[in-house]
Amino acid sequence: MNLNIFQQPRKVFIILFSFFFLFSLWIYAIPLFSNYQKPVKESKSIANGRLVWQKYNCHTCHQLYGLGGYLGPDLTNTYSRNKENETYLKGIIKSGVRQMPKFNLTDDETRELLAFLKDVDASGTADVNSYQPEINGTFSLKK
Ligand code: HEC
Repeated sequence: MNLNIFQQPRKVFIILFSFFFLFSLWIYAIPLFSNYQKPVKESKSIANGRLVWQKYNCHTCHQLYGLGGYLGPDLTNTYSRNKENETYLKGIIKSGVRQMPKFNLTDDETRELLAFLKDVDASGTADVNSYQPEINGTFSLKK
């Protein structure tokens, strides 16, 4: 009888496949048991707000999740940073500030844009310092 496992490719395959399978189960099970961000259901105004964001090319100067232009600040969490004062956000978008041009958005466009920014804000954060690496190679929000 041959006892050397490496001369039994079928066994090696079964062992490796079992590890792969268990690891996959583990990875996919994490969101069910942790405070992992739940996907936010997108409403019509949020979807329209995304179109406003694209129409006026906000991304050429601003980043979402760190991606975009670098003239202006990252806006991923601008909504919660200025939550108390939506008027401040509306004012900036309407009147511009320093290098930021003035956008003549309609009231509907402004409302939808804010709904979009609120949704982006709720989906997570772009600040890498608020995440910690996990032993399985994923990242989670620091508690
Ligand atoms: C030409 C570049 C440019 C474009 C295009 C632009 N912005 Fe800006 N934005 C800036 C700059 C620069 C600032 C920072 C101004 C300052 O305070 O010095 C800024 C600031 C802001 C702020 C304030 C952020 C905070 O936390 O104080 C918001 C909100 C904002 N922009 C939203 C938008 C939106 C929405 C659009 C698209 C409709 C847009 N911007 C398009 C350059 C731009």
